[in-house]
Amino acid sequence: MNVNRNEKCWCGSGLKYKKCHLNFDEKLDELARSGKEVPSRELIKNEVEIEGIRKSAKITKGVLDLVFDNIKEGMSTEQLDKIAYDYTVSMGGIPAPLNYMGFPKSICTSINNEICHGIPSKDIILKNGDIINVDVSTILDGYYSDASRMYIIGEAREEAKKLVEVAKECLYKGIEAVKPWGNLGDIGEAVMKYADSFGYSVVRDFGGHGIGLEFHEDPFVAHVGNKGEGMVLAPGMVFTIEPMINAGGYELYVDEENEWTTYTVDGSLSAQWEHTVLVTETGIEILTI
Ligand code: MF3
Ligand code: CO
Repeated sequence: MNVNRNEKCWCGSGLKYKKCHLNFDEKLDELARSGKEVPSRELIKNEVEIEGIRKSAKITKGVLDLVFDNIKEGMSTEQLDKIAYDYTVSMGGIPAPLNYMGFPKSICTSINNEICHGIPSKDIILKNGDIINVDVSTILDGYYSDASRMYIIGEAREEAKKLVEVAKECLYKGIEAVKPWGNLGDIGEAVMKYADSFGYSVVRDFGGHGIGLEFHEDPFVAHVGNKGEGMVLAPGMVFTIEPMINAGGYELYVDEENEWTTYTVDGSLSAQWEHTVLVTETGIEILTI
């Protein structure tokens, strides 16, 4: 398990352990001894892996930009799916959702009271006033990235616009809470407090997740929590922050027919924004920006 100071580091960087993760391990050991939950080594990415995830993330961002350029009233969510698929493949990537656990399309499109995992369809036509989340995930050379944004179709009601704006701010509150050697609970508390202050609720059944070498890795990133609790955030960890914010209650149900699309129980609107982020020695890098 432990490596000699002059041997190569366990992270695969090729550097000597003493020049690489020795201090890191000492810090984590100390935190573990003080009772903190610490990340396992599989969750710590090296520079080569991070660069791979960065490139994947550029495609994910590119899809979201392209959706912004093309989305409009009267188009079907299947047309958005095609735009995403064609661009991703043209860039050498693979849409991660496609065939993932039986998911039939390349992106998730979730409208109004749909919380997440909506399936694009030729029969779902965007209407004036809709708010829609488009969730994009890419595999490039085996590296995964994941991000989503909200889009407003035409003129939406004030309540809808406010929810979309606050949900974005919730994501950034979560991002700002990330500090190397902080804790996962710092993110949850920041998001929850901000959403609460508007009378909104935060979905509990879904959260962010580690990502990079697989679509969904540990840890589970809850968007509710308490500062100082949960897994230690160590440099080299890559995960998503993706709070789903409901105008009403946080309770949800899954579509019985397609077994994917998730809705608010009370029919209230839901909004979500997502980035893939890297914990660095000094703070955070948003990879999908
Ligand atoms: N981007 C979504 C997430 O990580 C993807 C869910 S799986 C899918 O939460 F098959 F629905 F795409
Ligand atoms: Co995700």
